Amino acid sequence: MQFTESDKALHAAALNVMRNAHAAYSAFPVGAALRAPSGTIYAGCNVENASFPEGWCAETSAIAAMVAAGERKIEAIAVVAEKLPRVTPCGGCRQRIREFAEADTPVILCDMSGPLQIVPLIDLLPLSFDKAALT
Ligand code: THU
Repeated sequence: MQFTESDKALHAAALNVMRNAHAAYSAFPVGAALRAPSGTIYAGCNVENASFPEGWCAETSAIAAMVAAGERKIEAIAVVAEKLPRVTPCGGCRQRIREFAEADTPVILCDMSGPLQIVPLIDLLPLSFDKAALT
């Protein structure tokens, strides 16, 4: 599979932010980076908590950074985890990504050295429940 410079930039941002993960309980650091329509890349890492269910995922952090900055659209998102080549977003994060993305939005699955595979979001969340259901 061929990857563009912008795919590689998302991988680099995800890898970089993964180093700041607070994965004190799982020891499973994750980084995510997404590109919004302005071209800005928003990145986030997982942030765990002594009360285990209160932690949150890297994708959630990246989405929160985008929304806090005033943007509302994911053009592409990359995820990386040092302990699992080709980590995929968890179920909850698939739904959170769906809120700001289209069915064909690229999800870039990575290992430490770069992007490995691009899948459209709909392949990860078929028959999704989304805002169209509430209009
Ligand atoms: N994690 C993420 O940050 N993103 C994913 O897509 C999968 C799981 C985090 C949550 C938790 O902090 C750790 O990885 C182990 O589940």
